Amino acid sequence: MIWSLPLTPLFYDCRETPMTNDSALKPATLAANMPGNEPADGAVVPAWQPATTYENRAESGFSYLRGDGPVFADAERRLAALEGGSNALLFASGMAAADAVFRSLHAGSHVIIPEVMYWALRGWLNDDRSHLDLRVDMVANGDARALRNALKPGETALVWIETPANPTWEVTDIAEAASLAHEAGAMLAVDSTVATPILTRPIEFGADLVMHSATKYLNGHSDVLAGALVSARNDAFWLRIQNCRTQGGAVPGTFEAWLLVRGMRTLAVRVERASTNAQVLAERLQNHPGVVEVLYPGLADHPGHDIASAQMQGGFSGMMSIRVAGGLNGAARVAASTRLFRQATSLGGVESLIEHRAPVEGPGSPVPDDLLRLSVGIEDADDLFADLDQALRSVPQA
Ligand SMILES: Cc1ncc(COP(=O)(O)O)c(C=O)c1O
Repeated sequence: MIWSLPLTPLFYDCRETPMTNDSALKPATLAANMPGNEPADGAVVPAWQPATTYENRAESGFSYLRGDGPVFADAERRLAALEGGSNALLFASGMAAADAVFRSLHAGSHVIIPEVMYWALRGWLNDDRSHLDLRVDMVANGDARALRNALKPGETALVWIETPANPTWEVTDIAEAASLAHEAGAMLAVDSTVATPILTRPIEFGADLVMHSATKYLNGHSDVLAGALVSARNDAFWLRIQNCRTQGGAVPGTFEAWLLVRGMRTLAVRVERASTNAQVLAERLQNHPGVVEVLYPGLADHPGHDIASAQMQGGFSGMMSIRVAGGLNGAARVAASTRLFRQATSLGGVESLIEHRAPVEGPGSPVPDDLLRLSVGIEDADDLFADLDQALRSVPQA
């Protein structure tokens, strides 16, 4: 059963995340130095406020931290401005943010998700959804005809896409998905964790909701677990999501929220550098004798390159995958042989990570056995290539 969510919150004051008056400012400026977010005491750095409760007479309007708090509000204002949305909400994790979207749908709703998407969310929606009471259909990533056929006008409440899609990096045309969803009366939600608002702002292409695992690029230092949603409008569905967060209590700690703001201030330079490094590595690895295929939307022969070029500005992200010679065992050997690329899950941090996905995702995963996911960090590109090159020498060379 889906939760029954009263539309009048118990103690959440429902203040809107104020829209910035500086909408002409570019994302790099908004991330690093957003006007209107300065602390009243003149500090150039936002303060950490750990309080869980506020006096009723306080002018701030804050009441209880499960509903809202100043550090959350700071991060949410920045993110709403960066995404060009009206409101944003922080959550305890990316999964908690996605969970709030699906729980806020009416019981029995039909939703469409892609075949390739963050595997734990796909698994949770497909295998364990008895508690959600949703009808879920999957379509091939970026296949507009399949999406059109799967939509049930009047019944489909939500189309969920992820672009580029983790971990094979298919690209979906956001504007096309939005217009198909809207024609059928459905909303479009985009997991934009990998693109970040530095490269793509899905709301500009018609998306209704944007989701982030803020654990990844938004924070960028592999030391915060958090999630976020941004809404194009302050509508009834957004109010249900707000209630879901307040009553479900899936908020981050105040220190995590503060660290997230700190991380977001350097978002633009980190994403730009990681994207530049990934592009260099993708081009060099294409010609490597130990590599069977490079999956990266920044390569001209990637099937989604043209769409990615139209909806990603300034780079194609730091995320890529390589298929290596020697199959499952070859991939395991390479992953165990890198030194700079740390063998670990997660992505979007300043340090480079490598992960053999098939053993992680298990049976039923669409990920090939020989695929290694690379989260390219901000180190020196030559050093990163040398590290991969020596590790790739452990598999048969073509
Ligand atoms: C694309 C994507 N979406 C969502 C998530 C879930 O985020 P979290 O781990 O913060 O719950 C992840 C985590 O790896 C992810 O890669």
